[in-house]
Amino acid sequence: MNKILKKWFKKEANNLNDIEFKNWKEYVREKDIILDSLWVLPEREKTGVHTREYWGNFIPQIPHQAMVRFTKEKEWVLDTFVGSGTTLIKCKQLGRNGIGVELVPSIVTWASKLVDQQENPYNVFTKIITGDSRSEDTKKEVVKILKQHGKDKVQLLIMHPPYHNIIKFSNDPRDLSNASSIDEFLKMFREVVDNYADLLEKKRFLVLVIGDTYSKGEWIPLGFLTMQQILNTKQFILKSIVVKNIVGNRGKFNQEELWNYRALKGGFYIFRHEYVMFLQKL
Ligand SMILES: C[S@@+](CC[C@H](N)C(=O)[O-])C[C@H]1O[C@@H](n2cnc3c(N)ncnc32)[C@H](O)[C@@H]1O
Repeated sequence: MNKILKKWFKKEANNLNDIEFKNWKEYVREKDIILDSLWVLPEREKTGVHTREYWGNFIPQIPHQAMVRFTKEKEWVLDTFVGSGTTLIKCKQLGRNGIGVELVPSIVTWASKLVDQQENPYNVFTKIITGDSRSEDTKKEVVKILKQHGKDKVQLLIMHPPYHNIIKFSNDPRDLSNASSIDEFLKMFREVVDNYADLLEKKRFLVLVIGDTYSKGEWIPLGFLTMQQILNTKQFILKSIVVKNIVGNRGKFNQEELWNYRALKGGFYIFRHEYVMFLQKL
């Protein structure tokens, strides 16, 4: 068995992460790597300065899994909807350089302070840029930072857009949560992908984190529609769709009862999952 593994390992040069053949099992154990497509996580990781204060932020386990599988130490990560900075806090914890883009200036100020408070044992660079991720000017800022560090590509792209209008993040019309329709949302999202796709190194991963939505009594498969926008660029192939449970945010007992009743009466199921989609750049 070991011989077969060794042969595979040699054949498939490992340029994606720091895993070495002789200690791959320890690596998987030490880094808590999940290898199947159903992520049932009991609770939100509470290490470092991670906080649940920002409504709509993702759990730190998501950028953790993406970074340990798909980047090496000191490589570069770009998050185009960085919100409260979860990705950048994780970058500092794992020793990756990170750039985040966020539209809302007050969030940038708050998140930048939070990220600054995180210890930086690997001495990596992190920065949040204020801007619209669809705009050429914002991209120029990202390129400028990379250039200052002698780089022109990133090795991981993370996108956690609003789930259309489920949470409104601002009143800014450039905010994807203010898109007037699903079609408009998908168009705006595609603009973000088109803006940054060429900054991702070939064979590296784009990680899309997204949930579905409900409108006028109909389940809208927003996750798949958004994923399709990436595939439509013809620059990526789909490698995995992970279904992840939503960790304990259902609110008070009364609300839980109300939702259960509405679901029963309305003929639908209550959202308990979202998607983490892994796409590889061609
Ligand atoms: C789902 S949240 C991301 C949360 C983030 N993963 C975290 O852990 O905090 C989406 C974020 O995208 C931002 N946003 C919306 N439209 C944007 C745009 N056009 N450019 C950049 N950021 C945008 C929102 O303000 C919001 O903070």
